Amino acid sequence: MFNSRTVSVASGGLLAAAALLIAGAYFAEPATAKSMTSGETHEDNLVASVAAGGRLYDDWARETAARKPRKVHPLYPEEGLYADQPWQTWRCVTCHGWDYKGSEGMYHTGPKYTGIKGIAGKRGAEIGEVIEILTDGKHGYGDMMDDQDLLDVASFVVNGQTDVDQVIDPVTRRAKAKPAASSVYFSTICVSCHGADGRMMDTIPPVGDVARTDPWQSLHKMLNGHPGDDMPALRAFSLPTILSVLAYTQTLPSHDRLASISRGGKLYDDWAKEIDRRFPEDPHPSFPTGVEIAVGSNTWRCVECHGWDYKGNNGIRGIRNLAGAHPLAIEKILTDETHRMDDFLKHKDMTDLANFISQGQVEVNEFIDPTSKKAKGNKDTSPEYFLTLCATCHGEDGRAIRTMPPLGRVADNSPWKVLHRMFHGHPGDYMPAWQASMPPTIAKDVLAKLQTLPVKK
Ligand code: HEC
Ligand code: HEC
Ligand code: HEC
Ligand code: HEC
Repeated sequence: MFNSRTVSVASGGLLAAAALLIAGAYFAEPATAKSMTSGETHEDNLVASVAAGGRLYDDWARETAARKPRKVHPLYPEEGLYADQPWQTWRCVTCHGWDYKGSEGMYHTGPKYTGIKGIAGKRGAEIGEVIEILTDGKHGYGDMMDDQDLLDVASFVVNGQTDVDQVIDPVTRRAKAKPAASSVYFSTICVSCHGADGRMMDTIPPVGDVARTDPWQSLHKMLNGHPGDDMPALRAFSLPTILSVLAYTQTLPSHDRLASISRGGKLYDDWAKEIDRRFPEDPHPSFPTGVEIAVGSNTWRCVECHGWDYKGNNGIRGIRNLAGAHPLAIEKILTDETHRMDDFLKHKDMTDLANFISQGQVEVNEFIDPTSKKAKGNKDTSPEYFLTLCATCHGEDGRAIRTMPPLGRVADNSPWKVLHRMFHGHPGDYMPAWQASMPPTIAKDVLAKLQTLPVKK
């Protein structure tokens, strides 16, 4: 594992180190620094210390495996985005930004606005002065980070900040480098963890998306690595080299939108089955007591609370209001006190669910009459669709798959469930999702056809 923190500059007490630094000895005598760790030169140590500091700036609690603070940072504005996630308010980046410009940079507006100044003014400052700021009553890191961490993060502030406007166009967000059709660096370094197209890790968005929407964050992570993880820090390479990697990652693909929506539909149906794990033992704390649910179902399934018609179930409101909403707003709901889905699902799963809720749910009354439960289509208009698309697996009478009840019966009893599964597929199974390929009129006709199939096994 690449852990520069064990080889970085000072090994003695903070005060001694800071005194040296304040005295200006930090850059003066290579011999002084060299004597501190075996065989490493001062410059090697400095680069490693700066990179470690960059990771601490990003998320020191994750980098040092410290316990996350439970109180909101006193300097964080009450109405800020992260006020209900206390530990986030202790990350330097939350207040000062990936571009180090605080309220004068990307956080000058938008949900991450804090009105707090950047740290760019301290580039080249005295290390001791920065340590003093961090340990003063306002920042309060003296009790949370050890001497080495404070020294590293201060080294980053003083020696590690990139002048981002020189390297990233603030308007187009493009790296100021030649667009690259390939990258030796990406294909040999990043590929092992992120995959050839940057989409392999399901705990984070595709690398291409991050590089396009937040190139400052990408650049910071490339230079310093990822807190608490093995991702290498590229800081030792030249800046133009690193920019060429950034430019290349900006060309990498996003997740496939339609595949994401239909997978989200399957997660809504039964997320445990789709990701192949078990639901928690205890019933969902928000599930109303005294309500019976069907055998084989579970109170943790979204559909048990929000319904196959998306209009709410068991006395709980529906999700219709969120159709068309920004997926990030939906993801925030999924991590709220009621849901806490981030305890169970990965980033990719949350994205898929949010995409389904935003783009995949339909107004079911357009397909199904809510009183008679009859499909609003014609069984005789498009029979070829059922016969070619469904009968191959389900049989011409809908009874060929012996592990499920006859399709005709399900279509009569729960047409909304059938519509949902026809559109998004069956969780944990290979059945295709038909929403995107089937125009609504055809879908209604197929559903009408299913309601004519035999209901007995
Ligand atoms: C909750 C918000 C918040 C967090 C988190 C935070 N700061 Fe600050 N920081 C501030 C505020 C507010 C100021 C301005 C204080 C003032 O003007 O007295 C500031 C000032 C600074 C300055 C001086 C900038 C200048 O030009 O005067 C530096 C350097 C700095 N912070 C570094 C850090 C580092 C490193 C971390 C993480 C270890 C960090 N800050 C975490 C809010 C924060
Ligand atoms: C040894 C494995 C490894 C290598 C090699 C690696 N990374 Fe990472 N990377 C990670 C891990 C782990 C994370 C954090 C994942 C998480 O938060 O769940 C990460 C996170 C990131 C992020 C942040 C995404 C986000 O939204 O949090 C970016 C950007 C990134 N890597 C880019 C790169 C680039 C570019 C390269 C090649 C220069 C690279 N990584 C090489 C393991 C690696
Ligand atoms: C045990 C019941 C329960 C389960 C299971 C459940 N929710 Fe909820 N959900 C609620 C309640 C109660 C609310 C409204 C109160 C709230 O927002 O805290 C809600 C609200 C929502 C909202 C916002 C609706 C609006 O109009 O504001 C969305 C979106 C949502 N849930 C999605 C999901 C998804 C996706 C899942 C599955 C991963 C899920 N829920 C699982 C109970 C549940
Ligand atoms: C490639 C095979 C395949 C095709 C094609 C296919 N299905 Fe399925 N379908 C399955 C499997 C497998 C299941 C899950 C069976 C189980 O629960 O054991 C399933 C389940 C279903 C269910 C869920 C029934 C329930 O118990 O709730 C519905 C509804 C359904 N299919 C409708 C359709 C329709 C409509 C079509 C054509 C538009 C279709 N399927 C095409 C394989 C297929």
